[in-house]
Order: sequence, then structure tokens, then C-alpha cells
Amino acid sequence: MARCLVTRSLPGTAVDRLAAEHEVEVWPQRLPPGRDVLGDRLAGGVEGLLCMLTDPVDAELIAAAPVLRAISTYAVGTDNIDLAAAAERGIPVGHTPDVLTETSADLALALMLAVMRRIPAGDAEVRAGEWLTWEPARLLGHDLHRATVGIVGLGRIGEAVKRRVEGFGARVVHSGRRDGIPVEQLLEESDVVTLHCPLTDQTRGLIDERALRRMGPDSYLVNTARGPVVDSDALGRALTEGWIAGAALDVTDPEPLPADHPLLEAPNLVVAPHLGSASHATRSEMSEIAVDNLLAGLAGESLPHQAN
Ligand code: GLV
Ligand code: GLV
Repeated sequence: MARCLVTRSLPGTAVDRLAAEHEVEVWPQRLPPGRDVLGDRLAGGVEGLLCMLTDPVDAELIAAAPVLRAISTYAVGTDNIDLAAAAERGIPVGHTPDVLTETSADLALALMLAVMRRIPAGDAEVRAGEWLTWEPARLLGHDLHRATVGIVGLGRIGEAVKRRVEGFGARVVHSGRRDGIPVEQLLEESDVVTLHCPLTDQTRGLIDERALRRMGPDSYLVNTARGPVVDSDALGRALTEGWIAGAALDVTDPEPLPADHPLLEAPNLVVAPHLGSASHATRSEMSEIAVDNLLAGLAGESLPHQAN
């Protein structure tokens, strides 16, 4: 029986399986526990940590967790966790790939079409009583089926997005760590640039002012990867000054974006609150996998999905 902390209540019933074998505290609030609480629990004897992407688990916290034996994050991305520091201590880190691939790709397409066909802008007009009549030249967007879509990071989710946009009739180019065309060329060739890379030292700030200036005035940026891959200030200028036609973001820097953040003043911006994996079915399956990972780690077995 190990002490476990689950940093938010999870959809589905998977945590019951954890509680059947171990002593489990589930952080009950809507907001994350924060560094002090996390540090306090880890220093106080937590052996199994089931955390969210909103919980930074850095080397300092890991060093101050004397009996921590397994970490399981409720996400595919692991940039919030110092994987190397965990590995040095022999602590396995589990994550939830595969199960959320198709759901995340759907969201990328939803955002892509929403910004290209101006659905939120039109919705706002209707609600504001500004929709006077059908007009030939109002709220015109661009076609996905005529577009070249540039996929940055052709991993699991990138491949799923590729299949979808090819189904729409778009042409696809990609750039990745191992293959594809250089990012500079992708930015110049693409009508839509969609990001599916992890956040690493190499991808942090990848889409900066220079990158955005390589795109064209009829092109779109879609970010469903991680906020810091894009320079928010540069993106604000790109939209305001018309270097690109629009952007759709599921992730932002900072995240959450405060309601008075200058980026929200920019035109042709669609923002979602990090909903990539947010379907009922997928979030429940993620709970099962996250619990399976933690149970395996605490039992000293290999994790079904280990990230380090
Ligand atoms: C979501 O962003 C995830 O990494 O699962
Ligand atoms: C649009 O609704 C059309 O009929 O062309």
C-alpha cells in the first residue's frame, strides 16, 4: 500500500482501481495544487504521483521527494516533467500516447476550418445583431481543399492530421526531426502551418517573427502542440499587421491566456482552452491508462506507456 497523490479529479472510474490498492489523495479543487502543495506532499511521503500537464514536476521537486517511486502524467506531452532527473533516481514516468491521437487530430481540423472559414467571427456577428443579410463579399475565408498544409512534426498526431487534410483534398508537406523539408521551406510553401511537435529546446520559439514573416498574407497558423513553440508577441504583430491571414490556437503562452492579454486584441484569432484530448471517451480512457501506468510503476513492473 503506497501513498499516492492524484492532482485533479479524473473522468471515469479508473481512480477507484488505484484506491483499491493504495492510499490515494485526490486534489479536490479546480485549480492545480501549486508548487507549495506539491512540494509538501512529495516531501511528506508520496510514492506515486498522478499529475496533469499543469503541474511542473522539475528536478528540485523530484530531489525533495525522498520516497517517490513512480510518476504518471495525464497527457501525452511530458515537457512539464524533468524526465532526466526522474530517470537518474530510477523513477519511471508514464504518459498517455495513442489513445488521444485521433481526438487531438479532430480538434486541429476543427480549429483549422473554424479560422479559415471564419466561423467564430460569423457567430459573433449573428449574436451582436450585425448580420444584416446574405452578402457576396462578407466574411470570406480560404478553402482547405485548395490549400497546401505544412505539418511540423509528423508523429502520431501529425500523421492523423495528414490523413484528415488529405481527405479534404489538401496537399501536404511536412518537416520533422528525421525527415521532410526544412521548416523555412515549409513556412514559405504552406497555406496552413499546423504544429504537432513536442516542446523541446529545439522547438521552443520555433515560430518567431522571422518564421511568421516567411508565411504569406493568405496563410494560417494552427497550434495544438504547446504554447511556447510560438512567440505570442510576434504572433500578435503578425495578425495585426497582416503578415498572415489568421491563427487558431489550442495552446498559448502564457497558458491560460489572461482575458486582458494583448494577443486577444489581434484580428482573425481563434482560441480554444487546450481542448485537444477533451472528448468524453478519450478522457476516460486516459484515466485508465494513467492509472495502469502508476499501478505498474508502484509494483516495480514496466509501464504500459513509459516516457523516460
Ligand atoms: C495534451 O496537450 C497532452 O499532452 O496530452
Ligand atoms: C449558399 O448558401 C448558396 O446557396 O450558394
